Amino acid sequence: MLENFSLKKYNTFNIDVYAKYFSEFNSVNDLQELLSTNIKQLSTLILGGGSNILFTKNFDGLVMKNNLTGITIVKEDDAFVYVRAGAGENWHRFVLYCLENDFSGVENLSLIPGNVGASPMQNIGAFGVELKDIFYELEAFHLIEKNVVKFNGDNCKFGYRESVFKKKYKDQFAILNVTFKLNRIPRFNISYGAIEEELEKMDVTELSIHAISQAIINIRRSKLPDPEVIGNAGSFFKNPEVTAHELYELKRIYPDILSYKINDRTFKIPAGWLIEKCGWKGYRKGDAGCHEKQALVLVNYGNASGQEIYALSNEIKTSVKEKFNIVLEGEVNIVK
Ligand code: FAD
Ligand code: EPU
Repeated sequence: MLENFSLKKYNTFNIDVYAKYFSEFNSVNDLQELLSTNIKQLSTLILGGGSNILFTKNFDGLVMKNNLTGITIVKEDDAFVYVRAGAGENWHRFVLYCLENDFSGVENLSLIPGNVGASPMQNIGAFGVELKDIFYELEAFHLIEKNVVKFNGDNCKFGYRESVFKKKYKDQFAILNVTFKLNRIPRFNISYGAIEEELEKMDVTELSIHAISQAIINIRRSKLPDPEVIGNAGSFFKNPEVTAHELYELKRIYPDILSYKINDRTFKIPAGWLIEKCGWKGYRKGDAGCHEKQALVLVNYGNASGQEIYALSNEIKTSVKEKFNIVLEGEVNIVK
């Protein structure tokens, strides 16, 4: 266990905060040992790749970085292959493993930063696919009861960037591994956004999971900042949902408002559009800013503090509420 440990390299916002105690665990035994030595009153935090977290101050407790690795095929049949990956496996490396083996299902989720263990936390999603579409089950360790519990899809209560681990069981479990149900016969999903346009640009004549993955990588690189270069945690807020009536009222004032139909009564509005319309896109105050290509992504240009990023997010939230009467809900896990 390390004391007063800098977390700057362990969060993609590059916020320079310290953990009172820090340790990595490579096995369930390691984790058990850590918990038994842990001074009872200390709060704990399980950390993956640190790509969806904003520290607003030093963490006065024990940060435990999950390094459980390993990818294994647990069962297979003619149609599906069930692959279990350790929580500490890098997400994109897992995607590459699936591509190499021609297992389809994860290609639309290419290049999402972070680790496998956090993927069910917020039901990661991109380009028309969510983790729940390929999820089979997971094993998690209860930090108080100290036992391993299995969760199937229903138990996880997946929603849009939501799961039971962000709500009812917040901070109670360490996810150990996730099993995915992948297709042997590829099912292509290219209807979302600019995928088809990008495939055309790439001159793809024969559709494959490899081509789709590359198209998605190209689109992501064109608008999302690389955390290695500019600190960020992806979308800071969720895209808000409004009723058909609310959308009708908004359209009367803002005829160019963007929206996506979820069902007859519910529509989603891109938060990036709302934030841009409030004039924040490209805004910078000190080292805290709103990305110039994607207003939904807040950035740290160097030495912004977590407090500064958080204060900026609150200013943005207030202005969106004032202009559109829409309350933005955060997506990033804020450690206060
Ligand atoms: P961390 O940031 O380490 O942790 C996130 C939360 O999960 C924390 O509350 C942590 O305590 C908890 N946690 C982590 N691991 C475990 C575990 N094993 N057990 C229990 N709790 C755990 N997300 C999307 O959904 N779609 C995108 O397209 C997307 N694009 C992004 C682009 C960029 C440039 C960046 C920086 C982020 C993006 N994200 C996206 C957000 C992020 O990549 C995902 O949320 C990712 O799953 C976070 O993984 P992580 O390992 O870094 O989690
Ligand atoms: N837009 C603007 N201005 C902006 C940003 C976006 O007008 O500054 C408009 C775009 O022109 C587009 C629409 O908003 O018409 C949607 O933008 P984009 O396609 O970039 O996607 P998003 O809704 O902003 C969501 C996810 C991303 C995911 C992409 C692709 C959320 C909160 N975010 O972003 O996930 O990668 O779709 O599927 O749902 C993340 O969760 O961290 C994340 C990056």
